[in-house]
Amino acid sequence: MKNLTHIFRENDEKKTEKIALDNINLKIDKGEFIAIIGVNGSGKSTLAKHFNGLLLPSEGECIVDGMKVDDSEDIWKVRQKVSMVFQNPDNQIIATVVEDDIAFGPENMGLEREEIKDRIEFALKSLHIEHLRKMPPHLLSGGQKQLTAIAGAIAMRTQCIVLDEPTAMLDPQGRNAVMKALKELHEKYNITIIIITHFMEEAVQADRIIVMNDGKIIQDGMPKDIFKQKENLKKIGLSVPLAVDIVDALQKKGLKLANLFDNENLAKELQQLICK
Ligand SMILES: Nc1ncnc2c1ncn2[C@@H]1O[C@H](COP(=O)(O)OP(=O)(O)OP(=O)(O)O)[C@@H](O)[C@H]1O
Ligand SMILES: [Mg+2]
Repeated sequence: MKNLTHIFRENDEKKTEKIALDNINLKIDKGEFIAIIGVNGSGKSTLAKHFNGLLLPSEGECIVDGMKVDDSEDIWKVRQKVSMVFQNPDNQIIATVVEDDIAFGPENMGLEREEIKDRIEFALKSLHIEHLRKMPPHLLSGGQKQLTAIAGAIAMRTQCIVLDEPTAMLDPQGRNAVMKALKELHEKYNITIIIITHFMEEAVQADRIIVMNDGKIIQDGMPKDIFKQKENLKKIGLSVPLAVDIVDALQKKGLKLANLFDNENLAKELQQLICK
């Protein structure tokens, strides 16, 4: 994104304008795992919708793999490279059987039957949901529905999946299943993952965190660097992972602990200290 600004113009009498994105410059490389965080209304969804041209820049440009999203000839190619998964799992499934739903994208691309079958198999397998293939979506849990939506993206062979709060409506088990699947897609198949989340425990699992506030990117870095400056985050109304607060409190009590920020590593570290 180069100097990208997005302005929502309301067609009311006052002709109100909202600058939702304010001169964004951002480069995302193939194979990155990125979390975008920020308070409500900071511009996260608006940013995400530019990645596959669901929204177009008011000023500046968004280029995906050399293609400009606002070039109408390229938009379908862009959408084959970048797909989006949204918050509500119920709004994303069209067919009455899981495997038909996964087939929907490839069928629209006009692919051969055999190719479609292969892609469905790969999508089901890569997300470990082969057992769901014949299920009607209304019998799935929220997490299983989100995995089905992600499988649809995989079947399109998209290189990048953008997920806008995909776990917001899920229970902890569903949240874990989705995060685990995303990590595996990233590690095994080098798929670029961009996840918007309000859960800091999820953000911490990314390789890079982008912090948005009032339409701007105010921080961009590795989780350990972002959460090191926790006061900055708290100032704009964001929380930090529980582990960061626990480490902080224990350090203040004089315990020699490294700056850990994820539950798993903290648990290991504390276990070692206790067993000493
Ligand atoms: N269709 C729209 N028309 C007018 N204003 C909009 C529209 N969509 C978003 N906005 C405004 O743009 C700003 C950014 O909204 P956006 O949805 O990108 O925020 P967000 O960071 O995704 O918030 P949330 O965490 O609540 O999902 C907000 O002030 C919002 O009110
Ligand atoms: Mg949003």
